[in-house]
Amino acid sequence: MTAMLELKNLHAYYGKSHVLHGVDLVVNEGEIVSLLGRNGVGRSTTVKAAMGQVDATGSILFKGEEMIGLKAFQIAHKGLGYVPENRDIFPTLTVEQNLILGEKKGRKSRWTLNDMYQMFPRLRERQHTPAGVMSGGEQQMLTLCRTLMGDPDLIMIDEPTEGLAPKIVDLVAEYLSALKNRGISILLVEQKLAIALEISQRVYVMGHGSIVFEGTPAQLRENDAVRKEWLEV
Ligand SMILES: Nc1ncnc2c1ncn2[C@@H]1O[C@H](COP(=O)(O)OP(=O)(O)OP(=O)(O)O)[C@@H](O)[C@H]1O
Ligand SMILES: [Mg+2]
Repeated sequence: MTAMLELKNLHAYYGKSHVLHGVDLVVNEGEIVSLLGRNGVGRSTTVKAAMGQVDATGSILFKGEEMIGLKAFQIAHKGLGYVPENRDIFPTLTVEQNLILGEKKGRKSRWTLNDMYQMFPRLRERQHTPAGVMSGGEQQMLTLCRTLMGDPDLIMIDEPTEGLAPKIVDLVAEYLSALKNRGISILLVEQKLAIALEISQRVYVMGHGSIVFEGTPAQLRENDAVRKEWLEV
């Protein structure tokens, strides 16, 4: 197996506050890997650090190359995609304009606008609509598609199902699996155990800034102690 993304002994800080205490995590080529954990344990900080948006020490290897010290836009250009938790769209621009903004200059994408519209017919219907008037689920799809337009090899997606109706949650799970089948590796930050166990090949559980469990979905299902201590409320 080829590692796409390897975080080693990652420490991260907000000013003087030390939030990540040596995170080790690997996403191999073609895998969906989930990062689980309760509120505030550092899941978002982990992906922001990998994206160069939070100061970190340790090592972040992406396709074998060290990312520590690079700027966020440089990391994105190497093919690491990030879908933040706050549905980062341009509300007054149309759906189509938002998608076009996701393209990267000088990088030929494997994806076209038409691919996005085929994958999410709802976006085609709303292509000329200002993105800000769409539902939460539609905005989530748009954010994901805008990242795809930049042709990432791996996407880190932070709580894509938060606040979505159960039917839409299933749809998001389906699309993530479809992306994996098209060769994209995925690091999924989730709080919903069911979807993570359903679509991931491996899962990590984070507690207080470090990884406390690593295994297959089956291993996590069998491990009541870890679930009780680190996941269930
Ligand atoms: N910009 C920031 N400045 C200072 N502290 C922050 C900042 N962002 C997050 N923190 C703190 O860092 C810790 C980890 O936050 P993080 O956002 O990584 O958690 P999380 O696991 O993603 O949880 P959730 O998404 O449920 O909030 C928390 O204690 C949080 O309060
Ligand atoms: Mg978070």
